Amino acid sequence: NQKYTAYDALGADRLNEVVDRFYGHVADHPDLKPIFPDDLTETRRKQKQFLTQFFGGPPLYTEEHGHPMLRAKHMPFTITPERADAWLSCMAQALTEAEIEEPLRSAMFERLSYTARHMVNSTDSAT
Ligand code: HEM
Repeated sequence: NQKYTAYDALGADRLNEVVDRFYGHVADHPDLKPIFPDDLTETRRKQKQFLTQFFGGPPLYTEEHGHPMLRAKHMPFTITPERADAWLSCMAQALTEAEIEEPLRSAMFERLSYTARHMVNSTDSAT
């Protein structure tokens, strides 16, 4: 009864590559840089754990940190629709650079888009 998951198709190495490339773009993005820590080492590590389980791999994030409660963890940050789009554009670049093939790429991006929209907690574009 094992299901073939996005994580199986991707593999740990490519998932880690996507996350590393993603935070490279986040660190360069004028609208995202201000809300992220200067040192993204721990953020990268947690995101690798989270996306591993998000895409159907072993529950690495939950094993170390407990239930993700992602929306609550994002509440301290002003997440406008514009910031969600910025987050997704950094991810789109990372997927392209890591040469993630179709239909895997679209399947991943759709799930991430859904979750990114769910993180929006402000309509105030000024902050
Ligand atoms: C943490 C921003 C969407 C997963 C964070 C942090 C920020 C942030 C500022 C804190 C970083 C730190 O202190 O280390 C955003 C913005 C998003 C967004 C602007 C736009 C919609 C997402 C999405 C996911 C996600 C779509 C998952 C698919 C995570 C995880 C953490 C995190 C796993 C670490 C949580 C922890 O501290 O344990 N995010 N995020 N984020 N984000 Fe997001």
